[in-house]
Amino acid sequence: MTSRELRQKYLDFFKEKEHAIIPSAPVVPENDPTVLFTTAGMHPLVPFLMGEKHPKGKRLANVQKCVRTVDIDEVGDNRHLTFFEMLGNWSLGDYFKREAIEWSFEFITSEKWLGLDPRRLYVTVFEGDEDAVRDEESIRIWQEQFAKVGIKAEAAGEDRIVNYEKRIIPLGKDDNWWGPAGKTGPCGPCTEMFYDVSPELGKVNDTFGSLVKNFRLMEIWNDVFMEFNKKADATFEKMKQQNVDTGMGLERTLVVLTGKDNVFDTEFFQPIIRRIEELSAKNYSEDESKISMRIVSDHLKAATFMIADGVLPSNVERGYVLRRLIRRAVRQGKILGIEGNFTSKIAEVVISEYKEVYPELGRETEKIIEALNQEEMKFRQTLEKGLKKIKEIIAESRSAEKISGEKAFHLFSTYGFPLELTKEIAREHGIAVDEESYHEHFKKHQELSRTVSAGMFKGGLADAGESAARLHTATHLLLAALRKVLGDHVIQKGSNITGERLRLDFSHEKKMTPEEIQKTEGLVNEAISKDIPVKCEEMTLEDAQKMGAMGVFGEKYGDKVKVYSIFDFSSEICGGPHADATGALGNFRIKKEEASSAGVRRIKAVLE
Ligand code: SER
Repeated sequence: MTSRELRQKYLDFFKEKEHAIIPSAPVVPENDPTVLFTTAGMHPLVPFLMGEKHPKGKRLANVQKCVRTVDIDEVGDNRHLTFFEMLGNWSLGDYFKREAIEWSFEFITSEKWLGLDPRRLYVTVFEGDEDAVRDEESIRIWQEQFAKVGIKAEAAGEDRIVNYEKRIIPLGKDDNWWGPAGKTGPCGPCTEMFYDVSPELGKVNDTFGSLVKNFRLMEIWNDVFMEFNKKADATFEKMKQQNVDTGMGLERTLVVLTGKDNVFDTEFFQPIIRRIEELSAKNYSEDESKISMRIVSDHLKAATFMIADGVLPSNVERGYVLRRLIRRAVRQGKILGIEGNFTSKIAEVVISEYKEVYPELGRETEKIIEALNQEEMKFRQTLEKGLKKIKEIIAESRSAEKISGEKAFHLFSTYGFPLELTKEIAREHGIAVDEESYHEHFKKHQELSRTVSAGMFKGGLADAGESAARLHTATHLLLAALRKVLGDHVIQKGSNITGERLRLDFSHEKKMTPEEIQKTEGLVNEAISKDIPVKCEEMTLEDAQKMGAMGVFGEKYGDKVKVYSIFDFSSEICGGPHADATGALGNFRIKKEEASSAGVRRIKAVLE
């Protein structure tokens, strides 16, 4: 079966079940500021899941293009992708569990449709907790489906051992509850379908967790029974209408239909990988090239779709995710030994493969090629600077006989050098790299990023940490600039940073004039344009005060404090993290200046 046939079969099946077919929404959500990308088919439909009438009726089906960056570090294994397509059918207050499960089973197993083997099918259901009961109804409906084809299907016990008889696995909220994590909106228990991709390994008999981790079971479809609304206080209320939201992964389903065991061996990736082979003169079948080629093909496919839907590389929000994807791809290209610009050449293959299904790729070809070329050129210049830096580092590290983990990490975070590249160059110069210490630095950095991005929606900005670090540095510059423009009475009264903007509350009596705002912006942008390094020193609180570092009034500090200084412009006691240098910030703009409370003003600003 081809991808085209699979999309068509799915839509035809649900047309027979009286569903109206609706087009894919863009990967950039149109009316949902809480997410950066459309990570699932539900985003464009949220108002209708909440009760608004959809012009096409109560039963809908579609193929939705999605971008999900939450699994970005997993890309390269057999099934995780940044860009994928989701086949979905929707009930907006119409049918519920019975029809949804019956139709899923029929579509997967009936000879007329996918004709997959029901003996290789395993399903999970919600095990119940204080918010909602165990989903006995779904268990029963699944048992009836399996019974129709002579299969006895029991629910697995607490040990989660799965075998031929126990193929229904009850799991908790982490696995079997779908909906907006950490924010409000429609959600509910779900039931997921997994297919055994390696029956040649003998009878299934292991814990569910191991079977998934070892890639024996591949998730292909998720039916969500959305009957709750998660409220701001994290409680769940029953919604007026019961909805169904299903999502079947197009790429993964083609994997099981074509008897493969990974998404990269399907037609969704093979033409792209062939082109990477040509450009790199390496073979995909060689283990050391495989992962890099998978990452390049996934990331550049996602980048192509993102640019077509209006995203351009930048230092914030969506543009920043795009930038990271392109840069990661360029680095992997370097590891593969590809010389010269190549990202747009890969995009050309993506465009030609997908433009009939997604005509926007054809329409935006010029923009896609140009944006990729520009970003790649810029990044290659940074890499060149990194090459100079690594030569210096090698010279300094001679006596220690190895490059320290800290220096190797600096090459990664500032010049985009992956460890493999640093190791390779070091090897050529007969010197080692302290990998253990590198990984420690890397982990510390990741933990910071995670903490900062913890509040964000699942599937959102994987690198929110770095974006927040830049906004944090911008906050220091802003406070320093305000003191220059308005006077020394200005001190920080509060600060709040999201992945997208900063908010600073500061003491000042009057509304700022347009000239004052302009002057403040100008000072900050001047400091940014000078690309001043952000220096961090540890010292006693006393020393910090002696050097005139600003501290937040009323804050308790330990014996030693960190002082972040930006040359003579700003120095503040602060926990970080910050950008390495102001040049990473981009253009600073004040979006709003308003009263916060008596004698306190509030500024909201962004980096563009
Ligand atoms: N929203 C669910 C998912 O993404 C089903 O479409 O898995």
